[in-house]
Amino acid sequence: MTAPDDPTAARLAESWVANADAWTAAVRDGAIPSRRAGTDAAIVAACADALPAPAGTPVLDLGCGEGWLARALALRAARVTGADGLAPLVEAPRAPDPASRYAVAGYDALVADDALLAGPFDLVALNFALLGDPVAPLLAACARRLAPGGRVVIQTVHPWAAAGDGAYADGWREETFAAFAIPFPMHMPWYFRTLAGWVEALAAAGLRLERLGEPVHPDTRRPLSLVLTALRR
Ligand SMILES: C[S@@+](CC[C@H](N)C(=O)[O-])C[C@H]1O[C@@H](n2cnc3c(N)ncnc32)[C@H](O)[C@@H]1O
Repeated sequence: MTAPDDPTAARLAESWVANADAWTAAVRDGAIPSRRAGTDAAIVAACADALPAPAGTPVLDLGCGEGWLARALALRAARVTGADGLAPLVEAPRAPDPASRYAVAGYDALVADDALLAGPFDLVALNFALLGDPVAPLLAACARRLAPGGRVVIQTVHPWAAAGDGAYADGWREETFAAFAIPFPMHMPWYFRTLAGWVEALAAAGLRLERLGEPVHPDTRRPLSLVLTALRR
């Protein structure tokens, strides 16, 4: 969620169009080391924890990309809707998946129109899908789509690991995709958020942090990601 005339936001959107095919290949070929090391397992586990009785439970996988998480949750018998702003990702050929449906929906549209993918959902999952700034309007739109007792589960880069040698302060950074095993056509601007920044964004969206997960790399024991589970206040 960013102002439409913000050039950095425009470049972020442009990067997803340019990188759609590379992204689909990277996810499906297992070319993202951190995913193999544990972030895929971490988001599936966090979603499973948030859904004690998943059979038939309505779930929204927002910013679903080519849909791997939607498919994984559908295998657990949840009734999943995958939504993403980029048609080539949502429509990427996939194995037959009768339990899920997919929709092209941009974040701005979801903020502006509560009738779009209205739910209610017992779970809204956002796996590495919050890349812009601000995020509170979109998180508030997620909160409005929750069924009573429903949860929002977010996986994002771990702030301390991602800060690297840079300042530990909210702000725009640049992803080069150098750590990925395949080339990406375009670098991507993304918004770095400190832990306090995430907690503030949840509060601003009317969400209360329930659980904070920090999966670590099995060999290095360094943090792989941050997993936030939140309830509507
Ligand atoms: C890093 S990918 C993650 C995809 C997927 N959740 C996964 O785990 O593979 C980020 C996704 O967010 C989507 N996205 C980013 N900004 C968006 C926006 N403003 N509206 C809708 N989707 C957006 C992109 O199209 C992309 O599919």
